[in-house]
Formats: sequence, structure tokens, C-alpha cells
Amino acid sequence: MSHLCTVYKPFDLQIDHAEGIYLYTKDGRKFVDTFSGIGVLAFGHGDKDIEEAMINKMRRYTHISNFFLDEDAESVAAKLIQRTRRQGRVFFSNSGAEANEAALKAIKKIRKGIIVAFEQDFHGRTLGSLSITGFSNLREPFNPLLPNVVFLPHNDPERFASFVRQNQVAAVFVECLLGTGGLRSISNNMARTLMQLKEEHDFILVADEVQSGLGRTGRFFCYEHFGLKPDIITVAKALGGGLPLGATIFLDQIMDVFQYSEHGSTFAPNPVALAGASVVMNKINDSFIAEVAQKGEYLKNELKFINNGLIKEVRGLGLMIGVEVNVDPERLKQIAFKNGLLLNLVSRNVVRFLPPLNITYQEIDTIVELFERSIKEVDFERNRTETSFASKA
Ligand SMILES: Cc1ncc(COP(=O)(O)O)c(C=O)c1O
Repeated sequence: MSHLCTVYKPFDLQIDHAEGIYLYTKDGRKFVDTFSGIGVLAFGHGDKDIEEAMINKMRRYTHISNFFLDEDAESVAAKLIQRTRRQGRVFFSNSGAEANEAALKAIKKIRKGIIVAFEQDFHGRTLGSLSITGFSNLREPFNPLLPNVVFLPHNDPERFASFVRQNQVAAVFVECLLGTGGLRSISNNMARTLMQLKEEHDFILVADEVQSGLGRTGRFFCYEHFGLKPDIITVAKALGGGLPLGATIFLDQIMDVFQYSEHGSTFAPNPVALAGASVVMNKINDSFIAEVAQKGEYLKNELKFINNGLIKEVRGLGLMIGVEVNVDPERLKQIAFKNGLLLNLVSRNVVRFLPPLNITYQEIDTIVELFERSIKEVDFERNRTETSFASKA
């Protein structure tokens, strides 16, 4: 019997080492990782520049606590703020959920009223971040959660507008491109309504960029695709180069929301994670982001070619792509596994692709080839079963 809480269902693999898009097992097998540690490894497994910066920092110290300022904290924060082209300050934490917790605390401090979140948006699993996560099945066992949170449907601008006009809304959390929720993005109409209502009612707009930020969607921040102007941005996943690091970015009027001792963390920001973040931030420059957009289009188009009725939709932005399949998704995952391809499923029947941002075109071809072979095998198996049923009947 395992001594671990049974909250995860890991692949039945013993990983020995990992490099780029590949995981190597202790028994000598090689697998293609299509989701980069759930979007954490923007430069794949074992990026040498990140590794070197981390090792150099680690040789000097691994932890110094918030009683000392690590040299990379200020520069990473400055680079994040620069990307917003506004004034701001950063609070560092250790995860996406913690980044959203800091946003929630800030909102609680300065605004009274309802927090609006959207169904299917995912913000984390700590009590605060779970309170605003739009999956009732995840929330229900833990009710009651934070009061004054209202969930509205994803992409229903009329409903949103009428709610904001009739209630005192303190803040709105939005995930512009749903990760866990199935890779659907907000509509342009929804984005316009959000900004128009923000103008009229002055609520705090929080963009959760934990998964979609840092170049993943072919823009530095995903909200840039939709013309939003958030007051708070949360990022995490790829930021620490593989080590835990989250950041809550407070902008313009609310940049000074936290005063001395109003928030904090023993561990964050970990200096070794910051060394990784420093490299990550340098590597994600404009030309690199443009390449992410191009590679994303290429991968999307290659996946669309497979079609054959086996795929319902290919969607997403940049290298954050969802393939809604018309075959049994669990069987697809099993067959892909047999073929050496590790798939991540969200929303039951959506395969989520989050490959490294520096993936090569050749590696994209490898993923598409294995995916096509796997989905066709599932179809073949299904047809064979149906035929044998029909012949028996
Ligand atoms: C959009 C989004 N927000 C928040 C989180 C929570 O991040 P973490 O698991 O690091 O707490 C996630 C995690 O998947 C996420 O995708």
C-alpha cells in the first residue's frame, strides 16, 4: 500500500531522466512528453542555461528567507512589470494558487462587494483560489468556501453586463484561455464587455495568466490578444524555470495595496527559482514569442489535417492547444502511451498540448505523427469491435 494521498493518478512509469521533449524510464523506454510538466517547462526538460543559472545560485545559497533580498528578485519583477508597459509592483509566491490568493487578499483589503468568477475557469485548489474556481464538482466537498463569490457563464456578455449593473461588484477574475476548462478562449465580445463595464463600474480586473502567460499563447500575456487592461495579473508555472515560483503583479492605482507585513511567505521567492526566472525572462523576448505563435499555427494546422472525423475541434492560441476528440479519450491515452506518447486530458475529451516553447518543427512532426497513429488505432479498434458485434447480431 502506498503512503501517499491518492489525489493523483500518475503514469505507471519510473522516470530515470528527462531531456527536451523526452522522458527516459529506468527500464530503458523513451516517451514524448506533450505537456511539459503541465506547462511548467517552457524550455523543455533540462535546459542547460536554466540549469547552469540554478546550479550557480545553489552553490552560493539555496534559501535566505525574506529577511534578505536576492539580487534576481528586483530584476525579474522589473521585467514582468516592463511587459505590462505600466507602473506596478510584484509579490512573489510559490505557486499559481498562491499568486491568486495574494490577489484575493488585495481585493478584500480595498473593495467591498461581490467577486465574479466564470464557470470553467480554474484558479487553484487552496481554499481561497478554490472559492473562485468554476468547477462545482471541485468546490462542493469543501463548502462553504469564501462568501460573496458569484459564478457567471463563460462568454455570456449580456448576462455579465446585467449582473454588474444590478450588483456591487468588487472584482472579476478571468482566465482568457481556459487550460483545465478545455482550451476555449473568451470571445472578443466578452472582452469588449469586460472593459466597457470596468470603465463604468470600476471593478478590479484580475487576469489569471498562470498557465497562459509568459509567451505560451504567442503574446507575452494572453490578455493582449483580447485588448484587456487588468489591474492584477497572476503568473506562475513557467516562471521559475521548473522550480516553484508564482507572481502577483499589482498595477497602477493598486500597486501599493500591500504595506509592511500585510502579506508574506517563508519560502518565496526561492533564490534558485529566481535564478531560473531570470533566464526564462531573458529568453522570452519578442522574436522568440513570434516564433511561438508560428509554431503554434503549424501544430494546429498539422493536427487539423488528421481530422477524418476523429477530431471534433482543434483550438487554442500559440502553443496552448486543445484537441477535442471524437474517440474514447481514455483509450486514446492508453494507446498513445503504448506508442510512446504521453497525453494530458482535460474536460473529459480534450487533449491538451503544452509542448516546450522552444520545440523544433521536427519535434512537432514527431508528436503529430504519434498522435495520428494513436487516434487511428483507437478508431480501428472501435470499428473492429462494432463489426464483430454486428456480425454476431
Ligand atoms: C489558470 C490557472 N490558475 C491557477 C492554477 C493553480 O496553480 P498551482 O497548481 O501552481 O497552484 C492553475 C494550475 O493549473 C491554472 O492553470
